[in-house]
Amino acid sequence: MNICVIGAGYVGLTTATILASRGHTVHAVDINETKINLLNQGTVPIYEPGLEPLINENLQEKTLVFSTKINKAIQHNEIIIIAVGTPALPDGSTDLSFIHNVVETIAKNLNTYKIIVTKSTVPPGTNESIYQTLLDKGIDKDLFDVVSNPEFLKEGSAIQDLLHPDKTVIGTKHSRPVSVMKQMYGGILGEVILTSLTGAELIKYASNAFLATKISFINEMARICDVYNVNIEDVSKGIGTDPRIGPLFLKSGLGYGGSCFPKDVSALHHSAKSKKVNVPLLEATMEVNHSQIDVYLNKLISHVPLEGKKITVWGLTFKPNTDDTRLSPALRLIEKLKAFHCHIHCYDPQVNSLNIKDVNYHTDMYDSLKDSDILIVATEWDMFKFPNWDKVKKWMKNNIILDGRNIYDPKRLEANGFHYIAVGNS
Ligand code: NAD
Ligand code: UGA
Repeated sequence: MNICVIGAGYVGLTTATILASRGHTVHAVDINETKINLLNQGTVPIYEPGLEPLINENLQEKTLVFSTKINKAIQHNEIIIIAVGTPALPDGSTDLSFIHNVVETIAKNLNTYKIIVTKSTVPPGTNESIYQTLLDKGIDKDLFDVVSNPEFLKEGSAIQDLLHPDKTVIGTKHSRPVSVMKQMYGGILGEVILTSLTGAELIKYASNAFLATKISFINEMARICDVYNVNIEDVSKGIGTDPRIGPLFLKSGLGYGGSCFPKDVSALHHSAKSKKVNVPLLEATMEVNHSQIDVYLNKLISHVPLEGKKITVWGLTFKPNTDDTRLSPALRLIEKLKAFHCHIHCYDPQVNSLNIKDVNYHTDMYDSLKDSDILIVATEWDMFKFPNWDKVKKWMKNNIILDGRNIYDPKRLEANGFHYIAVGNS
């Protein structure tokens, strides 16, 4: 099949690559010329494990073509996948300008029958409005179908997630495009869930909102565990064995971040409110997440005054195995530390500069500890889990460790002479 993917970001790039690996010819297009030039040289502008070699294989096979020629790519392909960003606006609603832009471009280039597949996460009603916009522009309804096909991959395991999905959600107005969609994904569909355009949009939001709620729930439990000296990991394990609850997304810590959970929970909240539906559970999820960093900082302050301290932060990305720092809890934490006039030093295996002033970046995790009073682990990269504690102690001036992801055994650290602080990990 000939497929055009519009937007070569975390989702578009991995989707295009996997579809190309499965025998389709894929044109991945983007307005960002620098990105496309890099990709054409075989350099991948994002860090996603396993992606670069797969892209290079497909470039060589010519099954994957990168270009900025969006009009041409739309004209020459039958399936058009939209994977552009849908960031949050300041009021929590969704900025759909990238989607609108792409729909305008598609409308101008609809020369033959096309299936327009929205993979970007969009608020309920958006795909219906894409369909109506095309009709309003005088395009014959037999010249196109709109499919709402949200994506559920996680950064850091995007390739595995795309190759082994638990489901494929296909929202349509009628059945015409369904068989082509199934053919496109071949054997990598998981359970197929057929629904309406808006049904598919709401499945995506419900999925992210539920996962975010699970995290806020366990973070609230961690606050309770903390005052009763109970280990939250025991509670997670204890409830996770119940198949009705499940063990995943019960890891407590500094809260959820990234380009999706924060924006999608607030977008769903906004969509509900716009229809006068009260959503106290979503509000509580956001509130717990918002206050989680303060819970950690207040605990730290109750042990040591922060004013003027040298603090090392390990981990800047919003989770391990990515270079993505969008809405990373680590960055919110750093901004809060700056209010105490702390001297901040950081190390992250994938990030060595950021748009935050007065922060020192290191390229070695132990160098970042030199003369530090406090080490804060903000992201649970594997390399932070088993450091050389002798080296850590030697480099640090003081011995305080704030474990923002509950990756250490408190007893072991205390036996090694560290002052260990966490929330619900005693
Ligand atoms: P991204 O910011 O990494 O990539 C978006 C790309 O679209 C950018 O390269 C940008 O230059 C390009 N673009 C913008 N306007 C364009 C246009 N008119 N024509 C061509 N290209 C254009 O975004 P992302 O993280 O890949 O997310 C894309 C969508 O997928 C969002 O709606 C997001 O919520 C959703 N999603 C993301 C993930 C994830 O893990 N990142 C997972 C599931 C769903
Ligand atoms: C998330 C969803 O898991 C994907 O299914 C979805 O497709 C994607 O959002 C999206 O819509 O973009 P992602 O943001 O890549 O994927 O990463 P997650 O692994 O879900 O982690 C999100 C945040 O939650 C991270 O900050 C992580 O540290 C935090 N988290 C996760 C916890 O605090 N505890 C957990 O138990 C799990």
